[in-house]
Amino acid sequence: MRRRAALSLPPSLLLLLCSASSAAIEPISTSIAVGMAAALTGFLASYQNIIYYFHECCRPEWIAFNRTGLQEDLSTRLFGQHLASHIIAKAVSGFMNNANPKKPLVLSLHGWTGTGKNFASALIAESIYKEGMDSQFVHVFTAELHFPHAGQMDAYKTQLQQWIKGNVSSCDRSMFIFDEMDKMHPGLIDSIKPYLDYYDKVDGVSYRKAIFIFLSNAGGESIVQTTLDFWKAGRSREEIELKDVETSLALSVFNNKRSGLWHTSLIDKNLVDFFVPFLPLEYKHVVQCAMAAMSAQGLEPDAAVADKVAADLLYFPKAERVFSVKGCKTIDSKWEYYV
Ligand SMILES: Nc1ncnc2c1ncn2[C@@H]1O[C@H](COP(=O)(O)OP(=O)(O)OP(=O)(O)O)[C@@H](O)[C@H]1O
Ligand SMILES: *[C@@H]1O[C@H](CO)[C@@H](O)[C@H](O)[C@H]1NC(C)=O
Ligand SMILES: *[C@@H]1O[C@H](CO)[C@@H](O)[C@H](O)[C@H]1NC(C)=O
Ligand SMILES: [Mg+2]
Repeated sequence: MRRRAALSLPPSLLLLLCSASSAAIEPISTSIAVGMAAALTGFLASYQNIIYYFHECCRPEWIAFNRTGLQEDLSTRLFGQHLASHIIAKAVSGFMNNANPKKPLVLSLHGWTGTGKNFASALIAESIYKEGMDSQFVHVFTAELHFPHAGQMDAYKTQLQQWIKGNVSSCDRSMFIFDEMDKMHPGLIDSIKPYLDYYDKVDGVSYRKAIFIFLSNAGGESIVQTTLDFWKAGRSREEIELKDVETSLALSVFNNKRSGLWHTSLIDKNLVDFFVPFLPLEYKHVVQCAMAAMSAQGLEPDAAVADKVAADLLYFPKAERVFSVKGCKTIDSKWEYYV
């Protein structure tokens, strides 16, 4: 009975309850006294935690960083990305454990298609928000979906700024994921720059606890080249260090005139805290992805099936056939045909 009552409260009231301390309960409940029985008022006052429990709020009940959870996920669920795992774990832990960060955390994830950039973002979200990617505090923007028409850029700019401002105003621990950053209009990226910087507040709102994640394929070729060089030299990919990809990544990203991100001064102004390279995936990683996809469906992973899935994919370069052309993309839907 009581649970029903909590669930059917109007959203506006729930919002107020989310942000309110118990002192704010009284005026709210009297103003809607007509609708709400006195019994409910008593219920609200004494069982406020139950409301937090049912409705996602910008509170520690719903937003709490799990450091070991993230580390475990990155090392057991994200395959073949030792560099990305290491950098993400370090960056996110450092930021989340800092009670008073000087600027928002800005990560830029780069790499070949299907190597786990969106997947890694989801792991980060899951380690912070109880609701993971479904959290109302996690916002995903895609150039082609949200900002498709170059002619409407001015309207998009205003809208994006208003969104970010509104979102951070209602929860300082908000997360923004910009997918396909390389297709984003340069002007649009410029318009979010103030939020990424070392400002105490922008228009009265502090953005310093927010997380911005940019995803792109920019620099993917240069990461592939470095990984291939290691492979050809007979060195293990785990030997690749950040410095091995960093310079060529920065160069190729800077010189890529098509990628919007780099026309702006995001890099010049050091607004990006971490560049995170994603290496191209090999046959054995595709097998791991297929095994994981079967487990996710609640099935016993079948190595023979996983092997068939991996064997049927395309690999490059043509001669050596080292890296999966589409990474682990489409594995989720493919393995079923091989059972
Ligand atoms: N390194 C990985 N470890 C585990 N699973 C992976 C990995 N890479 C990809 N996958 C699987 O493949 C799916 C597609 O990957 P994802 O969307 O993260 O690729 P992406 O890097 O964002 O590619 P794109 O650049 O094309 O957007 C994921 O949902 C995940 O299931
Ligand atoms: C954090 O993650 C670990 C590993 O996934 C899990 O066992 C633990 O229950 C989580 N802690 C909380 C508070 O959710
Ligand atoms: C937050 O961002 C979303 C887009 O993800 C937008 O639809 C919503 O209106 C924003 N909220 C506020 C309060 O601005
Ligand atoms: Mg992606």
